[in-house]
Amino acid sequence: MTGAFPGTRAASSTAPGARSKSLHLHAVRKQYGGRTVVNIEDLVLGAHGIEGLIGPNGAGKTTLMKLITNVVSPDSGRIEYHLPDETVLLSAKKPDAIARMGIVKSNQVIQDFESLSIRESLLLALAGAKEEKFWKVLSDKTFQRRAVQEIDEYLDIFSFQNPDGTAGSAGEKKLLDILRCLLLKPRFLLMDEPTAGLPQEETDKVMDLMRTKTRENDLSILIIEHDLDLIWQTCEYVHFMAEGEILLQGTPTEVRNNATVAEKYLGASHA
Ligand SMILES: Nc1ncnc2c1ncn2[C@@H]1O[C@H](COP(=O)(O)OP(=O)(O)OP(=O)(O)O)[C@@H](O)[C@H]1O
Ligand SMILES: [Mg+2]
Repeated sequence: MTGAFPGTRAASSTAPGARSKSLHLHAVRKQYGGRTVVNIEDLVLGAHGIEGLIGPNGAGKTTLMKLITNVVSPDSGRIEYHLPDETVLLSAKKPDAIARMGIVKSNQVIQDFESLSIRESLLLALAGAKEEKFWKVLSDKTFQRRAVQEIDEYLDIFSFQNPDGTAGSAGEKKLLDILRCLLLKPRFLLMDEPTAGLPQEETDKVMDLMRTKTRENDLSILIIEHDLDLIWQTCEYVHFMAEGEILLQGTPTEVRNNATVAEKYLGASHA
């Protein structure tokens, strides 16, 4: 297991299994009302295929993801996106530019999709991924044909009650948000409690899809989840956050068996 401050070289190594991109955070701080909610000295994300970010309520997990997508600006520090030929300073980019670079965040609290049908929402995501002025591509017949095919592939996997209607339950909205993110063709997917409220069967399908996507598409995924069984089963590497800081990192087995995690998060029953 590495300590809280791993060297940043590991992620850019050419060792087998190394990923082609990673996020590097250096001395990143965020305060709300004088209280520090994120305080990260050095953190590399995305060196493994699917990574987990766990920690108690209020640890700063969601804020950390919002800092990466620059929906929230850090008070200080640097967040860099390392690609094979360039390094991009994310805190200098707008959220929509970051999304177009392929860093996409799913939402813990789902926005209102109520005015659009499930199919329309997915079509909009596909069009938005293709071009900034998405209304231009919406009327393109070739785009429409391909889009329907791609959307149908997803709709065949998941059981929406009525894809031509609006998303009904909280679970359907959550699923729709995940599919919307995938249609944006992310290279780095930040998933904030993606399966909270989903039936187990749908959760399993989402996770299977994520595993396939990381294998086939050079996609890196960071998942925040309180369902720790899902984390242990799905993630290759886990970061443990508490009170704004990354306290531990390691394989699921290493993190699961660590006394600090047991004490600060899992409670006595898991210790
Ligand atoms: N916009 C905001 N204004 C003020 N305080 C905020 C704001 N956003 C987050 N916080 C506070 O920052 C802390 C970290 O919140 P955050 O949502 O990042 O935690 P979290 O780890 O995602 O928790 P949870 O597991 O409950 O989702 C909390 O104490 C929260 O109340
Ligand atoms: Mg959160």
